Amino acid sequence: AVERTFSIIKPDATRRNLTGKINAVIEGAGLRIVAQKRVRWTRAQAEKFYEEHKARPFYGELVDFMTSGPIVLQVLEGENAIAKYREVMGATDPKEAAEGTVRKLFAESKGSNSTHGSDSPAAADREIALNFRLDEIVG
Ligand code: CMP
Repeated sequence: AVERTFSIIKPDATRRNLTGKINAVIEGAGLRIVAQKRVRWTRAQAEKFYEEHKARPFYGELVDFMTSGPIVLQVLEGENAIAKYREVMGATDPKEAAEGTVRKLFAESKGSNSTHGSDSPAAADREIALNFRLDEIVG
């Protein structure tokens, strides 16, 4: 089925001017970018987005990193988009990511890993609703 997923191009990638290169990989995989905006999150926004990770040892570091610079928020649409984008991104740790994936190509480390993608339909719904109004998504 045609699905939507939520994507973030993270501060390590915007800092290195990689937005276009990452978008080329996304589009090359057949996913359509149906919403996109460049923002800088406040701590409150990052804490809310990642609240399920609050108890993890890396939570503080994650919030620091995600507020350290501009990020690009996106909605991606396509057949099986949630799983497809996770495949396109590759493993969380770039050392484990497959050849040709965004993280293998661009990520610096497990934390500075260039992109985020929703891991389930429920997460995609929540993450899109937190970051976009309906009229900002044009399919
Ligand atoms: P993301 O998909 O954005 O959601 C949770 C994030 O936590 C994940 O990507 C990683 O970038 C980050 N993360 C996971 N493990 C670690 C770690 N050990 N150290 C720092 N960040 C981590």
